[in-house]
Amino acid sequence: MARGKFITLEGIDGAGKSTHIAFIADLVRGLNHELVVTREPGGTPLGEKLRALVLNENMHADTETLLMFAARREHVEQVIRPALLEGQWVISDRFTDASYAYQGGGRGMADSRLRQIEQWTLGDLEPDLTLLFDLDPVIAKSRQANAGLAPDRFEQEQQVFFRNAREKYLQRAATFPQRIKVLDAALSVVEIRVQIKALISSLDITRA
Ligand code: TYD
Repeated sequence: MARGKFITLEGIDGAGKSTHIAFIADLVRGLNHELVVTREPGGTPLGEKLRALVLNENMHADTETLLMFAARREHVEQVIRPALLEGQWVISDRFTDASYAYQGGGRGMADSRLRQIEQWTLGDLEPDLTLLFDLDPVIAKSRQANAGLAPDRFEQEQQVFFRNAREKYLQRAATFPQRIKVLDAALSVVEIRVQIKALISSLDITRA
């Protein structure tokens, strides 16, 4: 059986991933693939507990990184890899690129250190397609302000944190252009959907 495809959604807080996730899931199901929709940090019972800690408790930046990867290790082992091996497609709202952007770009952890942890915990597992919703942090912030929910530890960060996170995301997109596709999140929802549809269709015809 063909391995399923692994799609991840990335972008700074407020860039609009959540607006598009149900649309992407419908597209994939419409192509007759079984699908698992999941998120990080989280995706497993233990991962969701780690999520609650990492989003709400103050901690050293290294602890934060290690907890992100601890949750990811469980997620890959229990959810992502088994689903892909069964031929199911997986959509994850964030994955390792978020650690490079937030813990690397935002908090300043060196890429080389993140690569070591990535290699240790994930081996060669990487997404087949990453949709990067790219948006100016000033616009992203104004969208979030409209959401009206209590901000978590990351959402409370200053503009410079998100500028650095965005920069790191874009650097990674330039380094991995085959995998990471940048979507201009300032465009209308309809315009973005047209681009997403084309990307998902071409992923469907690519055989692993
Ligand atoms: P997300 O679920 O996108 O936030 P929300 O529920 O508010 O839409 O992500 C939670 C936060 O975790 C987000 O601010 C980014 C952060 N994060 C990291 O810092 N590193 C990581 O590796 C991951 C997966 C998320």
